[in-house]
Amino acid sequence: MADTGLSNELQDVHLEESLERDCTTLSRHVLQQMQMSPEAQDLSALMNRIALAGKLIARRLSRAGLMAGVLGFTGETNIQGESVKKMDVYANDVFISVFKQSGLVCRLASEEMELPYEIPENCPIGRYTLLYDPIDGSSNTDNNLSLGSIFAIGQHQGTEGDVTPLLNSGRKQIGAGYILYGPSTMLVYSLGQGVHSFTLDPSLGEFILTEENIKTPSHGAVYSVNEGNFWQWEEPFREYIRYVHRTEGYTARYSGAMVSDVHRILLQGGVFMYPGTTKKPEGKLRLLYESAPLAFLIEQAGGRATTGTQEILDVIPEKLHQRTPLILGSKDDVALVESFIREHAKNESDRTEISRSRTPQ
Ligand code: AHG
Ligand code: MN
Ligand code: MN
Repeated sequence: MADTGLSNELQDVHLEESLERDCTTLSRHVLQQMQMSPEAQDLSALMNRIALAGKLIARRLSRAGLMAGVLGFTGETNIQGESVKKMDVYANDVFISVFKQSGLVCRLASEEMELPYEIPENCPIGRYTLLYDPIDGSSNTDNNLSLGSIFAIGQHQGTEGDVTPLLNSGRKQIGAGYILYGPSTMLVYSLGQGVHSFTLDPSLGEFILTEENIKTPSHGAVYSVNEGNFWQWEEPFREYIRYVHRTEGYTARYSGAMVSDVHRILLQGGVFMYPGTTKKPEGKLRLLYESAPLAFLIEQAGGRATTGTQEILDVIPEKLHQRTPLILGSKDDVALVESFIREHAKNESDRTEISRSRTPQ
């Protein structure tokens, strides 16, 4: 062994610790987490398939600028009315492919498909559904900037072609997570027992544990919002932004990919917002495969996520692709935004009351 100046015993301890760390793969971690559950094997296999999807997407992204037909638009528009990129289609298909013949997932639904995708051969034993955003932050794709994939795992219910069983509140999620395609590829997940992050070791082809039981600080300096929409927001959001502008200790960070922005907030605290705008009163983000899974994670990490008037996890969707305003992050920072919303609502109702009392009967 090389002379590191450490005693032999100490070197042995270090070696053991680093080996132990290298061997804490995602599937082993899920099994450990779910020890007592009869679903442990299935959930470990399911997370493994999601990890495989992440590796396939990361591999393509890492060489995107060198290959033909990877970047740019397809020319199609998706159900959201947004232009589809070739990577959106590829990543959408990857998630479908990894779950074919898995016996795990009977139905998948994503941002890129109007209706759920059924895998009938899985249904007799497939106990789960997967809702996902295959590429989050699509506008970053052609610039080699951070991107993500978001997923929510649910219990399979209902029969083929019936969307209703997917329309559950976020509290019914069995698990959720995201994959972040940044300088390294990370997978962050929760099965309701804390939030854990993994980093892809390309030399092993495995996601290795990075941090267990992530806790979001109760306050952070970052506010993350597209201020280009300032004049399209309702007044309380403008008031909040005016407040952070004139108060020391705040800093803006916004990447265009919410997985990336939320990852920063999960680790360092702060608040991410996508409020309603005049053009899109419900905002831009989709409840079932964007806001709800990220809300599940942030709650597990001790933070909060709200629409401004209701906890995101309590919202029961009426439509598969329903949008929702989102305020997510550190407890205290979310509460501060809410206080501006409440204050504004109170002033409005006081004003209405006064003008009603002045109107001659
Ligand atoms: P997607 O690429 O899946 O449509 O999601 C993009 C989302 C989110 O990741 C990001 O925070 C936001 O849209 C960016 O939108 P703006 O360009 O309107 O800020
Ligand atoms: Mn998205
Ligand atoms: Mn997307």
